[in-house]
Amino acid sequence: QTQAKYQILVSDSMSKEGLLPLLESDQVICIEKNVNELDDLSQFDALLVRSATTVTDELLAKMPNVKIVARAGVGVDNIDLDAATKRGVVVVNAPDGNTISTAEHTFAMMMSLLRNIPQAYASIKAGEWNRKAFQGFELRGKTLGIVGFGRIGTQLAQRAKAFEMSLLVFDPFLTKSRAEKVGVTTATLDEVLTGSDIITVHTPLTKETKGLLGMKNIAKTKPGTFLINCARGGIIDEQALKHFLANGHIAGAALDVFEEEPATDKELLAFPNVIGTPHIAASTKEAQLNVAAQVSEEVLRFLEGEPASNS
Ligand code: MLT
Repeated sequence: QTQAKYQILVSDSMSKEGLLPLLESDQVICIEKNVNELDDLSQFDALLVRSATTVTDELLAKMPNVKIVARAGVGVDNIDLDAATKRGVVVVNAPDGNTISTAEHTFAMMMSLLRNIPQAYASIKAGEWNRKAFQGFELRGKTLGIVGFGRIGTQLAQRAKAFEMSLLVFDPFLTKSRAEKVGVTTATLDEVLTGSDIITVHTPLTKETKGLLGMKNIAKTKPGTFLINCARGGIIDEQALKHFLANGHIAGAALDVFEEEPATDKELLAFPNVIGTPHIAASTKEAQLNVAAQVSEEVLRFLEGEPASNS
């Protein structure tokens, strides 16, 4: 019988099918338990997380054998990257496993927002039949402003085109030639802000993007603009959003992510034209299988001495 070479801790719930490369490898002992449920973490060579586990310097200190932390998802904002670097721990993610799910969810949120579907649903479930209260807008002919044009922004743009929307795309890293290839017009942030009917953000949360849609920038949008955030809480400043919802400048917002999660801002959620979901854009069978499989394979390869490809 082969002796397992590596011990791997899967701290957040992940697709079992996606974890099969680890669960079936005789090289690996794979424990699916939250870091808080174990007293001794010193034996683990690798740590797999989604977003529920916060990987702090303190946690890494308890895991002196960990060589790699893998995030089964895109955002690594729940991992202290400086602490990992300091300790020589490699951090990898699953950069494209949930692209389609997130783009589709954003699209669903956009349609729900413009057609008042959640509000109409709540009304009919409450026994009402109110056909006047829920008049909405068509997407055709509207301008969708996309801030951040990576994988998700690109997929969203393709879907928006099928709905005959116009697109304005801002991304400081987007080259003219790539924009041409995808068939979108590059714009400045100000052009997106002033020229869009609906603005959706698809950037990571960084120093540069935190509060990007705040008082100053939301003020530049057209009266009646809709805002969508299915990326990271905090890219749209919630205080500023509430200000512009309260004065009617912003027509509505669709939020899958919040500055604090679980979402606690009752005032924000109480706006009838704010619709929300609990950070589920990547929660599909397909995406969860993809991201778990991607990180499982990546971790195995890395432990076997190959360089990490998504670090
Ligand atoms: C991601 O960063 O991949 C998404 O937010 C999904 C998740 O948190 O699992």
